[in-house]
Amino acid sequence: MPSTSALFPRNFCKKYPVAVRGDACWIIDQDGRRYLDASGQAAVVSIGHGVAEIGRAMAEQSSQLGFAHTTQFHSEPAEKLARRLLTLAPPNFRHGGRVYFTSGGSEATETAIKLARQFHLESGQSERYRVISRRQSYHGSTLGAMTVSGNVARRAPHQPLLAEWGHIAPCFCYHCPFGKTFPECGIACADDLSHFLDKNDASSVAAFIFEPVVGATLGAAVPPDGYAQRIAEICRSRGILLIADEIMSGMGRTGKPFAIQHWNVEPDIILVGKGIASGYAPLGAVLVAARIVDAFERGSGIFQHGFTYQAHPVATAAGNAVFDYIELHNLFDHVQPAAEILRTELSVLQSHPHVGEIRGLGLLLGIEFVKNKSTRQPFPKKDTIADRIRQATLDENVLTYPTQGCVDGEHGDHILLAPPFTISPSECRLIVSALRSALQKVFPS
Ligand SMILES: Cc1ncc(COP(=O)(O)O)c(C=O)c1O
Repeated sequence: MPSTSALFPRNFCKKYPVAVRGDACWIIDQDGRRYLDASGQAAVVSIGHGVAEIGRAMAEQSSQLGFAHTTQFHSEPAEKLARRLLTLAPPNFRHGGRVYFTSGGSEATETAIKLARQFHLESGQSERYRVISRRQSYHGSTLGAMTVSGNVARRAPHQPLLAEWGHIAPCFCYHCPFGKTFPECGIACADDLSHFLDKNDASSVAAFIFEPVVGATLGAAVPPDGYAQRIAEICRSRGILLIADEIMSGMGRTGKPFAIQHWNVEPDIILVGKGIASGYAPLGAVLVAARIVDAFERGSGIFQHGFTYQAHPVATAAGNAVFDYIELHNLFDHVQPAAEILRTELSVLQSHPHVGEIRGLGLLLGIEFVKNKSTRQPFPKKDTIADRIRQATLDENVLTYPTQGCVDGEHGDHILLAPPFTISPSECRLIVSALRSALQKVFPS
């Protein structure tokens, strides 16, 4: 039956309920059905849905000043939010760092690519332009961001439009691309960056971009200790900028403001999105370390890049209101204890013959389903296991984020769990009971 919707949907084969209200960890549709948001939508919602203070702050800002173009003005909410972000960042951002606000994650990645390119121009290294990244990664949907992404399915239809700057191996211990085991592996996946540079014209490389914890594509794959440090060393020794894409893993989701801080690494650029405004406004940010800022200040003084809506007063007011709420309720400190409760509840699923691994950091968690637990063999793609698990948990009114392809871009099924930081113990139990019932439905014995 043809749909009556005027919206161009993500998937023409799917029917979408109409969401009308949010209430903490729940979304309510127009028929009154309540969904427990176990994935924070797409790891976006950190403070919960329907927090009235945020709407009030946005209304107040838009009634004062809705918009002022950044070629002519700066605004107080953007200045304030930038200062707050720099305070959370690693030391090399705190004195002299700056923040470039965008309307989302993909724009932040685009901005970082151009920043890296122009940084090298400003520094007299005009041959550097390529941004190297990893296979099995995601940095956004726009063409520059897709060029650096390594997510096979998302790239496939657009392949002819994408430049080929080069991808190295992912860091994914459960399906190690080198067939090795940590720590005997010697973190071969980090050294893959060195080997790649040795073979592929290192002098044209401007930056390396990576997700400190790989979100959607690998289902919360956490690197072993030493990986991020080794990558940072290689970048530094080769004169390459290090970009940490924390669009999913940042803003407290892993238990620290930025995931990279678990390993005390100082990247040159940090990308933020999603949690920065907890979904209340379209907002992203690029945190730029002092030495990059310095090169622009001493150089041309002009960044050749811009968006009409960058540093939007109402979006940054939403960011500040979310920040206020996080501070008032100490929400970053909720992440670790909430994650421990959720992990403990989830551990009952680990013995299921098709639950391969439960992984992640803080409240960025993934569950991978395998056909054979001892060999870690994935299911055939056509079995659409991840989506069937999503559907079966949805039948229990619990929302999860499924993806296929974690093993090789095609095979491998996982779901992501990334609930609001305010998730309660009883809601954790609801998530696990929905997953139990989903496992029974999808894998009847
Ligand atoms: C790690 C990462 N980078 C970039 C993006 C793109 O962000 P957006 O969808 O806001 O453009 C995403 C979105 O899922 C992401 O997870």
